[in-house]
Amino acid sequence: MEKIFKRTLITSALPYANGPVHIGHLAGVYVPADIYARYLRLKGEDVLFIGGSDEHGVPVTIRARKEGITVQQVVDRYHSLIKDSFERFGISFDVYSRTTSKIHHKLASDFFRKLYDEGKFVEKVSEQFYDEQTGHFLTDRNIKGECPRCHAPEAYGDQCEKCGATLSPEELINPYNAETGNPLVKRETKHWYLPLDKDQPWLEKWILEDHKEWRPNVYGQCKSWLDGGLHPRAVTRDLDWGIPVPVEGAEGKVLYVWFDAPIGYISNTKELCDAHPELGSWETWWKDSSTRMIHFIGKDNIVFHCIVFPAMLKAHGEYNLPDNVPSNEFLNLEGNKISTSKNYAVWLNEYLDELPDRQDELRYVLTANAPETKDNDFTWADFQARCNNELVAVYGNFVNRALQLTQKYYDGVVPACGELTETDKATLAEFADVKASLEKLLDQFKFRDAQKEAMNLARIGNKYIADEEPWKVIKTDPERVKTIIYISLQLTANLAIAFEPFLPFSSKKLREMICMDDFAWNQLGRTDLLPAGKQLAKPSLLFSKIEDDVIAFQQQKLADTIKANEAANAKAEPIKDTVSFDDFQKLDIRVGTVLECERVPKMKKLLKFLIDDGLNRRTIVSGIAQHYEPEELKGKQVLFIANLAPREFKNGLVSEGMILSAENWDGSLAVTTVLKEVKAGSQVC
Ligand code: MF3
Ligand code: ZN
Repeated sequence: MEKIFKRTLITSALPYANGPVHIGHLAGVYVPADIYARYLRLKGEDVLFIGGSDEHGVPVTIRARKEGITVQQVVDRYHSLIKDSFERFGISFDVYSRTTSKIHHKLASDFFRKLYDEGKFVEKVSEQFYDEQTGHFLTDRNIKGECPRCHAPEAYGDQCEKCGATLSPEELINPYNAETGNPLVKRETKHWYLPLDKDQPWLEKWILEDHKEWRPNVYGQCKSWLDGGLHPRAVTRDLDWGIPVPVEGAEGKVLYVWFDAPIGYISNTKELCDAHPELGSWETWWKDSSTRMIHFIGKDNIVFHCIVFPAMLKAHGEYNLPDNVPSNEFLNLEGNKISTSKNYAVWLNEYLDELPDRQDELRYVLTANAPETKDNDFTWADFQARCNNELVAVYGNFVNRALQLTQKYYDGVVPACGELTETDKATLAEFADVKASLEKLLDQFKFRDAQKEAMNLARIGNKYIADEEPWKVIKTDPERVKTIIYISLQLTANLAIAFEPFLPFSSKKLREMICMDDFAWNQLGRTDLLPAGKQLAKPSLLFSKIEDDVIAFQQQKLADTIKANEAANAKAEPIKDTVSFDDFQKLDIRVGTVLECERVPKMKKLLKFLIDDGLNRRTIVSGIAQHYEPEELKGKQVLFIANLAPREFKNGLVSEGMILSAENWDGSLAVTTVLKEVKAGSQVC
């Protein structure tokens, strides 16, 4: 039975306040969420669109250390920078707050305490590394030591950057504090865990059976987590930045950032509703079953929003679960991974300064190229082509012709419509059903196709006016021109509505030019939106061309960043010593076909492969889980070392060989393959 909803709560992932936001954030989360929010509002629905900054966690503390300022200063700086960028891009949040707010600290703390009091957590004591001189517990990246494999002196607690081995801090020889260099000792510490293993049955039913309509990338990732089996997850940390664990004897411990951050959606809703009682109580938005909840996120957030947060909400007992989690894949930039730490990105604050008043242009291109089903690439050349060939040459051109001719022939007054020709009727018929088709796509979160549909409307108009040639007809049949212009103006008004969710700045500008005060989604498809006799305002261009030098400047900027990073890298990785041909021949490199590929429970970097090596099947474990989805590699041919001594991982898993990958300058990994298909087991020589 289809559920009837009375209102929609839209959330968008709270970005870490550890740096500015970039086009990847915008394309992946905020533009789609904003399109959806604007669409529902235009339909007159009851909507709240919740945003905010995620100000806890380790990344902000690392940034503070790097910049030599306090953590509070870091989050203050980036919270305002991010908030400002979103505002300037027209992301229409009803609230944009922060997880350092008082309301949030109290709500997250109470949430934890309720689960604690009801015995929903499992308490566990474990040994962790401890720096006796600073009095801190340390994890993963904050620990360094000698690599147990290649004996490099500066391996991290999660990985050796020299030999690529995936490590856990326990394996390091003589571990020390990465920051201070102090030696570390093991010390017992108590933490609270959410026993996700117990949630497995209902999560399986809720996601795999009841939410088959979720996007395939979301559904697939959930399935692979569930198939791997869920394990208890610690929801507290030994850190001094965050929300203190509200339990006696838990001094020096805070809530894990992924425990408190999603509760931020609730806190921010509360902050908004408390200040605006006309919006109703915050509890209606979170607990009433007639409220629909949609989380917009990027793909690295899927497990938290589809598994962990729902388990928290369920354990609490009073809250709704999300109805959909339309997650996007990643956006790359000129063929490379966007990277905050490598400064390789188009930062929104810089874009706004360098390409002023061109917010809609970026929104348009990011939606046209949205990574809805797979990773996608943003290039400046494509940006320029889409702006000039689509926004300027199609949408802008049509509107400009319609409005300029109205000025020229009728002093800006809408002419009366005469008798319709067959072409007129056909044109009107073509855009009569755009409302239904747009709705269908928007309701399914297919924003890319929806925007294409809106653009199609402009194409219809452009073709109509080009075919009818009113500038010629005016000389022979001036009466007929009135009808052509009338129809063109109705189309123009329709475009202002259809594009509002996507391109709010130009829609507003267009609405002002055609003096359209009444403005609702329901008017879409109507042919009497601008009545005869109505005086229009003076038109100006809706879009202008992007010149080559603007693009060249941006391309150069990225090229400079790559060069700087490459230079830094080149110093770090000299070519190794020469080896004899005989030594080289000792390696047996072969082509294998990937039969199966899956995640390894509890080891977030590992993928486990079943490889056809020509003779047998073998298991190979590879640390590339953050660069590939298991499904992407199934059926592919890969290069691997077939005679490497088997390696055992901490959890007992044995890897019989090693898959060869190339490390790009931005740290991303690319699995190697052959240029044409060969028989499995073929030797590489
Ligand atoms: N800060 C996280 C990130 O950037 C997202 C947090 S989303 C929330 O990946 F649900 F936790 F709020
Ligand atoms: Zn090593």
